[in-house]
Amino acid sequence: MNIEETVSKMSLREKIQLISGKSVSNTRDMEEYGIRSLYMTDGSNGVRLWDNTVVTCYPSVSAQAATWNRQLSFRMGEILASECMEKDVAVLLAPGMNIKRNPLCGRNFEYYSEDVYLTWNMASAFIDGVQSYNIGACAKHFACNNQELGARAGISSNVSERALREVYARTFEKVIGHSRPRTLMSAYNKLNGTYCSQNKFLLHDLLKGEFGYEGLVMSDWGAVHDKAESVKAGLDLEMPTMIEGGEASVEEALSRGELSMEEIDEKVRHVLQLIEDLSKKTEKPKVSPQERKAVSSQIAQESICLLKNDGILPLAGEGKKILVVGELAAKPAIQGGGCAHVNCFEPEQPLAQIEKYAGKNEVMYAQGYIAASLEYNGVLAAEAVEKAKEADLVICMIGDPDNIEREVFDRAALTFPNSMWQLCDDLLRTNENVIFVIQAGSVVDLRLIESRAKAILFQWYAGQYGAEAIAKALFGEINPSGRLTESFVRRCSDSPSAQSYMANDLYVDYNEGILVGYKYFDYYGLPLQYPFGYGLSYTEFCYGDLELKEEEDAVRVGVTIRNAGTRAGSEVVQVYVSHPGANVLKPKKWLAAFDKVYLAEGESCRVELKVSKSDLEYYNETKGAWWFDDGEYVFSLNKNVQETYLSGCIGLTGKMRQ
Ligand code: BGC
Repeated sequence: MNIEETVSKMSLREKIQLISGKSVSNTRDMEEYGIRSLYMTDGSNGVRLWDNTVVTCYPSVSAQAATWNRQLSFRMGEILASECMEKDVAVLLAPGMNIKRNPLCGRNFEYYSEDVYLTWNMASAFIDGVQSYNIGACAKHFACNNQELGARAGISSNVSERALREVYARTFEKVIGHSRPRTLMSAYNKLNGTYCSQNKFLLHDLLKGEFGYEGLVMSDWGAVHDKAESVKAGLDLEMPTMIEGGEASVEEALSRGELSMEEIDEKVRHVLQLIEDLSKKTEKPKVSPQERKAVSSQIAQESICLLKNDGILPLAGEGKKILVVGELAAKPAIQGGGCAHVNCFEPEQPLAQIEKYAGKNEVMYAQGYIAASLEYNGVLAAEAVEKAKEADLVICMIGDPDNIEREVFDRAALTFPNSMWQLCDDLLRTNENVIFVIQAGSVVDLRLIESRAKAILFQWYAGQYGAEAIAKALFGEINPSGRLTESFVRRCSDSPSAQSYMANDLYVDYNEGILVGYKYFDYYGLPLQYPFGYGLSYTEFCYGDLELKEEEDAVRVGVTIRNAGTRAGSEVVQVYVSHPGANVLKPKKWLAAFDKVYLAEGESCRVELKVSKSDLEYYNETKGAWWFDDGEYVFSLNKNVQETYLSGCIGLTGKMRQ
């Protein structure tokens, strides 16, 4: 297609129509110009077809993130894209990359982390995977859609310029630079008083101007309130269809001189360019069903976070009576609700997998509760307690089914319903060896069980192939290597955003500024259940020989890591940087590099990481520029944000970016 020729032939009416969707799933086609329609669908844990066809459910984004394994994120993108190819999907509406600002946000399971660096690194790898099949990825939701409460009604996220640039827009800026997502979605909410889909500063100045974004910007579904305003602001495509009166509003804006034909043409070109780009067929072979399952299972295995272990895990020996309790052991919670939810094949059953790996141990089962109910079920609980009296150990599975963590709603609390809690308490009073397996998409308050549990495994939403990972982790077939991607607060009110989150229906003030997530707890030294980056292993790692070397735009960090335990395992190498002499507010430390390495028992390796100086800059609001402070920086190699293996200091000088 000759884009310029097509633009020159189209009438104004046709142009306005082309920059609005045709239906909930498709862009508009125009046969007379050879313009085909693009089919777009969600999401990041499965290719959800709009006719609800049964498809595979993969681990959710929060699980993908907990692997801290970029390669797996890339593979996940490839797999979804290969499914898109089979199903004629042109654009996959993923990944969701909003920062987890508040633990109650109903879509946290669709997002990566509270941390900027981890988010953009994992999202970038995912986008690269998707686009390697020439399927369009969609970085969403730009920007500050950090809660569901009020977002669709247009609540205004009021954010300082520094926090916007360093935190909420930074993830998008970085993925644009690294992975050029073909599309990007603007958010439902307002940003500092103006709807994101109509926000000129956000879309025109920042995104297309400063960040140099050249792909297509589409609205979230129904997020445009004034068509002309959205065109003026830089939005290319309104989805799913044009708002009533949209055409007239554009014509009027044109006649008043508030909008030029050139501005409209620019949007038309973006739509045509996307169609043109996505028409090129890829030569890459399809991913086989076996590979899909293998990658999905690998993510499920590598994302499990071992939160507590009093030495009971991995389970060993034989002849024991193991009681498995919980409806989720029979019908697992594998995904969250809303647009990312897929109508999926029958998931594998944790109970069956535990039976498979239990060897010569006896496995019993009790339902314990009804997952869909909030009420404690005395009959089911009594049955579980009776069986727990006979058992040597109890594996209790609890979690959030998909009606709890979901789009449009935020969770009401971080605790599980009484139907599960009271049962947990009963079991803990009855048997001294209770192990909990938790399936949820985000932070949960575990204080009721924490001190009395023998072990806690946190599984996230692991998709339809996730059950085997639990059994393998319990029986030591794999060594847990997931790490938390968000601070596990003790209670909602501990979160830095707690006060502002529900203050009113009109706006939410991001008072914590740049101190989001662990950066806040670390700065003020506040207690948590579990810190960011936390996760136990069945082995121990030792760090040594730290070497820091300055290069022009980066710092090379070299370190030797040894598996000093008696089992093979993977370690997430976490590099945090601090700038103790800073004369402006900065986080006490922030994640600036990570990697994941697998080491056999007794094995050592040398790991080389690169910290880009751009990840050491801060946004200087007075100068209106990114700023590198020369000075002494501390680089620490950590187990998690709170525990340091070893650290070193280096004096650095940088170039300022104007
Ligand atoms: C969601 C988007 C999604 C779109 C299409 C909206 O409600 O916010 O994330 O891509 O629907 O399903």
